[in-house]
Amino acid sequence: MSLKENAVLIFFCNGQKVTDDKVDPTMTLLSYLRQKLRLTGSKLGCGEGGCGACTVMISSYDRLTKKITNISANACLTPICQVHMMAVTTVEGIGSIKDGLHPVQERIAKAHGSQCGFCTPGIVMSMYTLLRNNHQPTMTDIEDTFQGNLCRCTGYRPILEGYRTFTKENLNDGFNEINAQVNCCQMKDEQCCRLTNGKRQISTTLFQPSEFKAYDHTKEIIFPPELILMLEREEPNLVKFERNGVTWIRPVTLDQLFAVRSQFPNSKLVSGNTEVGVDIKLKKMRYPILVSVAHVTDLNKILACETGVRIGASVTLSRIEDFFKDEMGKLPDYQCKSFAAIIDMLHWFAGQQIRNVAGIGGNIITGSPISDLNPILMAAGCTLEFADTKGVHRSLPIAEHFFTGYRQNAMKPNETLVSIHIPYTKKTEHFKAFKQAHRRDDDIAIVNAAFRVDLHDGVVHDSSMAFGGMAPTTKMAKQTINKIVGRLWDQSLFDDVIASLANEMTLAPGAPGGMTEYRQSLVLSFFFKFYLSVNQKVNGLNAPLSYTSATLPFKRDEAKSTQMFQEVANDQSLIDPVGRPLVHLSAYQQATGEAVYVDDIIALKNELYMAVVFSQKAHAKIKCVDATSALSMRGVHAFIDHKDVPGSNLIGDIVQDEELFATDKVTCVGQYIGAIVADDQEIAQRAARMVRVEYQELEPIISIEDAIAKESYFKPIQRIEKGNMTNGFESSDQIIEGEMRVGEQEHFYLETQSCIAIPKQEEDFMEVFSATQDLQLAQITIANVLGVKYHKVNIRTKRLGGAFGGKETRSCNLSAALAVAAKRVGRPVRCMLDRDEDMTSTGTRHAFLGRYKVGFSNDGKIQALKICLYANSGNSTDMSVMVMERALDHLQNAYYLPNVDSCGYCCKTNIPSNTAFRGFGRPQAYLIIENVMTEISLSCGVRQKTVRELNFLQEGQSTYYNQKVDDVRLVKRCWDECLEKSDYEERQSKVADFNRSNRWRKRGLSIIPLLYGVGFTAMHMNKAGAFVIIYQDGSVLLSHGGVEMGQGLNTKMLQIASRTLKISSDQIFTDETSTNTVPNTSPTAGSISSDLNGMAVKIACEKLYNRLEPYRKQEPNKTWSDWIKAAYKDRVSLFATGFYKTPLRSEPFHYFTSGAAVSEVEIDCLTGDHVVLRTDIVMDVGDSINPAIDIGQIEGGFIQGYGLFTLEEHRWSPSGELLTKGPGFYKIPSFTDIPVEFNVSLLDGVPHTKVVCSSKAIGEPPLFLAGSVFFAIKEAILASRKDCGIEGSFRLDSPATAERIRMACSDTFTEKFPPAVNGTFTPFFIRS
Ligand SMILES: Cc1cc2nc3c(=O)[nH]c(=O)nc-3n(C[C@H](O)[C@H](O)[C@H](O)COP(=O)(O)OP(=O)(O)OC[C@H]3O[C@@H](n4cnc5c(N)ncnc54)[C@H](O)[C@@H]3O)c2cc1C
Ligand code: FES
Ligand code: FES
Repeated sequence: MSLKENAVLIFFCNGQKVTDDKVDPTMTLLSYLRQKLRLTGSKLGCGEGGCGACTVMISSYDRLTKKITNISANACLTPICQVHMMAVTTVEGIGSIKDGLHPVQERIAKAHGSQCGFCTPGIVMSMYTLLRNNHQPTMTDIEDTFQGNLCRCTGYRPILEGYRTFTKENLNDGFNEINAQVNCCQMKDEQCCRLTNGKRQISTTLFQPSEFKAYDHTKEIIFPPELILMLEREEPNLVKFERNGVTWIRPVTLDQLFAVRSQFPNSKLVSGNTEVGVDIKLKKMRYPILVSVAHVTDLNKILACETGVRIGASVTLSRIEDFFKDEMGKLPDYQCKSFAAIIDMLHWFAGQQIRNVAGIGGNIITGSPISDLNPILMAAGCTLEFADTKGVHRSLPIAEHFFTGYRQNAMKPNETLVSIHIPYTKKTEHFKAFKQAHRRDDDIAIVNAAFRVDLHDGVVHDSSMAFGGMAPTTKMAKQTINKIVGRLWDQSLFDDVIASLANEMTLAPGAPGGMTEYRQSLVLSFFFKFYLSVNQKVNGLNAPLSYTSATLPFKRDEAKSTQMFQEVANDQSLIDPVGRPLVHLSAYQQATGEAVYVDDIIALKNELYMAVVFSQKAHAKIKCVDATSALSMRGVHAFIDHKDVPGSNLIGDIVQDEELFATDKVTCVGQYIGAIVADDQEIAQRAARMVRVEYQELEPIISIEDAIAKESYFKPIQRIEKGNMTNGFESSDQIIEGEMRVGEQEHFYLETQSCIAIPKQEEDFMEVFSATQDLQLAQITIANVLGVKYHKVNIRTKRLGGAFGGKETRSCNLSAALAVAAKRVGRPVRCMLDRDEDMTSTGTRHAFLGRYKVGFSNDGKIQALKICLYANSGNSTDMSVMVMERALDHLQNAYYLPNVDSCGYCCKTNIPSNTAFRGFGRPQAYLIIENVMTEISLSCGVRQKTVRELNFLQEGQSTYYNQKVDDVRLVKRCWDECLEKSDYEERQSKVADFNRSNRWRKRGLSIIPLLYGVGFTAMHMNKAGAFVIIYQDGSVLLSHGGVEMGQGLNTKMLQIASRTLKISSDQIFTDETSTNTVPNTSPTAGSISSDLNGMAVKIACEKLYNRLEPYRKQEPNKTWSDWIKAAYKDRVSLFATGFYKTPLRSEPFHYFTSGAAVSEVEIDCLTGDHVVLRTDIVMDVGDSINPAIDIGQIEGGFIQGYGLFTLEEHRWSPSGELLTKGPGFYKIPSFTDIPVEFNVSLLDGVPHTKVVCSSKAIGEPPLFLAGSVFFAIKEAILASRKDCGIEGSFRLDSPATAERIRMACSDTFTEKFPPAVNGTFTPFFIRS
């Protein structure tokens, strides 16, 4: 084909041929699937390869080898033109509800591995691809395959357990046996969990693998034969696709490539598009001519030669890994040391979806200073081969001078990287590489390094040390290397290298990337590890045996878990589902991609798209807004701002102090200034960027400390006092003061904020599909901004792809703006925020600062506590005052505080308004009080467990805000059972033994309690409604006021309705929540939705059940549908409402729930890395309505809390711009972050009379139990500091990131880098 002709795009999708002669090369495979093919199963979670929600399988056929290759890939980063002549399989292609689920879909659903379901199609497709390539994977294969998939709801455990049934071990042993093995408590004789507890058994089985459809890999859909024929028929040749000013050219030979490049010298080469695609998406780069090198035969070759291996520039990272693994089986070990380092590194390089498409050339040429491969290639002495457009080749070593500046290199503009030569290592050489990132899996490095030393008789003959993350380019430690050549590899060399690296690898305070002391410490720590590992090989360790711990690679054992719950009574009717682990109602739809989220709703014919114009300044006067050039763009329909708001421009839940569109001043980056309405998203977003806003900047307040200094607070400042502080402190033996920060947390729901507003043709009516937790607030807000009565607005919500509090008030900004836009243009308007837009504009969990003074006796009993909590509330009140109220209520956790003076300040700052988040201020307060407990224990020299027990609330005692705690004994029961189940005492002594024998790895074990007050403190919110309809055929339509967002609310409501009506659950259906079905609802929040809505459902169903009483009595042997028919004929009303309100009370909480958790961690003192070895949780949920859902909430909440306390961290520029606005920089826990052993037990025999079906709330409370990990980490750090002779208290803020852990493990390396004095430099980032 010549460059003049446009090709027809051909690919197969789910076995169907797709041809397109007008393909737009700017489209990704994901947008093509969702918009053109209307296959909405694959989800858009981030658009930057960081979440895996868009995962599909891409298959290709090699006509030479006749081999079919299946890979998982991120459809959001795959250009549609890239799949020309390939086969794509999406979640819809492997199974459906109608035709039957694929075993991969069935097992994730039945194992309770899908909650909100937004991540599920991506996870299903990763697993499916693994099985296509490996029919009997191991658990390690499964964990590896999910490195590129995130889930924010489940805590991953049920997904892994469901898929464990595919493993070889499982198949060999048979499903049932394995399930018993995996899930049984393994206790012997009378202690076995299978034994009865009175009448009701304790079960460990949440699903029955024996019910799973068998997996038969021979029945999989085959590669399209027609495509094979087409590929066989014709030699691959150059193709070109051109449309909308963008051209995609795909040469297949080097000559074609050179010809294209000489014709288009400014063309952009693209291989896997994982870097270029992100540039296009996030940096808004536009490349008119893209030349794909992914199919150039010569660039895809790997050749082993005498001196090493020559790898074509387009060879993907996955292929390199496979090749090296193969090679290592054939070659002597000594030749493969750099190959081994590459394999190790690739394991931590992105996720499989990225590695499957990313080329080695793309990594080298991108020249990122934190590239994971460049330090290794540099240290290994690799050579790069380039060719120019005339075909002239030249070689360049990938050495210090190859990278000429930040992301720049010595390749000439007319050159292409052809191959990389990696030499074999010599017998005398030693090679190792290291990487430290925020998160282990799928994260870019903070610092990485590669070391090579050639030792001849113990003397350094040659060496290289290359570092990433220490300069704008990968950097070789030249001076240090020069100093060691010719010297003996001994302690004196080590001391000199440490001194020299400390001088050579320096970072000025405020250097890009921040964390300068940590990064410099890592350089030394990595070399220390290398030095010892070489020693081990050549000299024996030459150090104390406990130093071996510095050389150990990261190792995580295979995950295991138990879940224990009380079974239903033997005599419970079989059709009564309450108390049984029913599968989430939508799990099958979610697993097949059929579940419809807002953005999956098929576009209406005349629908338009809205893009928001966000403020780029944190605090500024708006001098002018000019949308002229945006409005002149084709496809743009309107620019709207505050002048278009027909009603009130002020919004807010409790206080209306937020402008929907800024009028004359902006108070945070991400605030709405206006919006563009256009034909589609691409045009709308491009036009929105063209709206010119002129600002006059004002000084911003970003952090809590700034706000305190400027006394910038929202009113009221809250205070609770109890007892006599003077007496309390006077009677104390010891008094300590301290402070602690708990960082904010991004909700990171997988589905970003989304909404469609549809103006009706008559009467100013507006229908809105909104992903919101609070339909009533959305209705009120929209009615107010439109200036209409509430009855003119109907909000409809089917399900949310996660929310966690982030879609309570903060979803209203988007829905209100869309309503204004829809009203203005008189057409339906849609918007789903991009991940970066969502993170920049929607607020987070509040960051907290706690300052305390505590007095206590010598044995650790608290006498007096004075404490001030400060929360960073952002630029509007939102719910901050209530969040602070809850924090103050809960800062005592399960302890008795005799004398207290507490106060809470909501800091007014110039960041987006912070908001509700699972736990609502409690987790931050709990962490601070638990830290006080730890500090007391250190001060008294009494065990932490003892100090906590000593301070427990006792029967009859009240909270410090004067509420009696019913069932306070349940905290102690959870605590005692948790101690026992976790073998706490025995393991504590094992931890001490471990710490004695390991200098550079330390373990910590910690137990914490939980006492959680349930109920809205605003009395009027403690109510709910339900509406139940029975149709003539006996089918039941159940509506209630709660929103299904993954927490299983609809499933529990159905269980309650089924029990009350005494019919089987498959007769009952729940469609959606809407304001015109059940009005005036409270938000689905506060863990109380099942309590409230469940009662309302029960009341409605009881009314109907009672109305049918005469028919049941008359003809008891007839069926439900007979009774309904008879009642219908008798003109009996077959619909009923249910309304429930909790009894009036003067105390803040309806009741309390309790729990306890024990966690054990191991930290690497040299890098700050950690692993949670085991967690045991005991939780009181009353009588569980659905143990699978409740355990899912406990595990999911725990892992979210784990993220809060150890990993997740926002970073802000000093001027108030969020720097961590996507999964690339903001890390939530991934599959391998969960505890290696994870055991959850529901407290048995504790029915709770105050709530429907004797149950208790579950959504929020367990999140804090992850605090046990934080304090276990603190224990481990204490052990490390002790080895350095540092005793006693130290400050550890949350999250306990790798940086904080490493720097707290103070040693001779960290001492070399004292922190720079605040105020003497401008930090690269600040924390809010
Ligand atoms: C989610 C995610 C996670 C990531 N994680 C990591 C990580 O852990 N470690 C890490 O180091 N990187 C990481 N990256 C960065 C990126 O994936 C890698 O750099 C990858 O190797 C790039 O390869 P590619 O083929 O996709 O490059 P492309 O995006 O196709 O191209 C990248 C650059 O290389 C140029 N180029 C490509 N081929 C040639 C050639 N033959 N000759 C000349 N120029 C060429 C392109 O013009 C472009 O400038 C990550 C990226 C994403 C999106
Ligand atoms: S949407 Fe593709 S990886 Fe997140
Ligand atoms: S179920 Fe995984 S993100 Fe919700």
